[in-house]
Amino acid sequence: MKNTNGHIKELGFINEKYKKSDIIEQIKLLRKKKNAVILAHFYQIPEIQDIADFVGDSLGLSQQAASTNADMIVFCGVHFMAETAKIISPEKKVILPDMKAGCSLADSCSASDFAKFKANYPDHIVVTYINSSAELKSLSDVICTSSNAVKIVNSIPLDKKIIFTPDKNLGAYVMQQTKRPMIFWDGSCEVHDVLKLENIIHLKIKHKDAKLIAHPECKAPILEIADFVGSTTALLNYTQTDKSKKYIVATETGILHQMKLNSPEKEFIIATNNETCSCNDCPYMKLNTIEKLYICMKYEKPEIVLDLKLIKEAKKPIMKMLQISAT
Ligand code: 13P
Ligand code: SF4
Repeated sequence: MKNTNGHIKELGFINEKYKKSDIIEQIKLLRKKKNAVILAHFYQIPEIQDIADFVGDSLGLSQQAASTNADMIVFCGVHFMAETAKIISPEKKVILPDMKAGCSLADSCSASDFAKFKANYPDHIVVTYINSSAELKSLSDVICTSSNAVKIVNSIPLDKKIIFTPDKNLGAYVMQQTKRPMIFWDGSCEVHDVLKLENIIHLKIKHKDAKLIAHPECKAPILEIADFVGSTTALLNYTQTDKSKKYIVATETGILHQMKLNSPEKEFIIATNNETCSCNDCPYMKLNTIEKLYICMKYEKPEIVLDLKLIKEAKKPIMKMLQISAT
């Protein structure tokens, strides 16, 4: 049986023979030799975050992909993120440690189904969350991330009607913030959408001195009682500047690594549904490992390869987002 890199034997051999520190040294050597940049999302395992050149949210990672001088982008995140980097910088080689690192939210909206849905609303502007396929992006007017969604929607003239896809939770939050009516696609993230209000209330009762901070992919009742709502970068920044000492964090567990590094004196409690579940671990983000990262840099695969016409079409709404974000 092959793994997604096609080097299962070598992966097993590396796991058995080498210490993590040796593999990390090899990754550093490969990065230099190949003029590669390692971009990592906050939901990656701590070892990957620690070796990355840049760790960030979806917007920050897209901006890095647009500005890097590296020849090769090693994307430690999920497929739609690496695909977005390829669309932004098509002349660069973009690889990711595990091609199976998908996203339930991106998968919840196929471009063919969306094309039929969109045909019912011909006069609407399509705002698409970055957690989407290149094909869906190519059917969109503008892309947004969790950190700029409100700004993007506010940039749309008031007389235009809006479809927001694929995340109905983020869409509802943006609608509430902007007061712009919207039509939603019925998609959600399997990690954030399972978080239950009652469990979070229990945590709040148990930790009365803690503030609740939440990612906007969570359901509306959770966002309504949160002290702060924002993208992963915004949540991290909030914990650094806010005066509280304790936080209940309603998002994926990976973000705790940077929160603890940046504020070692503070306490962070992940908002799981029960104390034993690992429902806050994104199963796709966690497919990437240090060993797979090494193998992918050595063989320069799996590689994101996209049709040039698709790149051209998907790039327009992404560049529009980057342009609006920069203003
Ligand atoms: P951020 O852009 O806020 O990091 O979110 C990415 C994501 O996939 C959240 O589930
Ligand atoms: Fe997708 Fe949810 Fe994982 Fe983010 S946490 S990558 S939205 S499945």
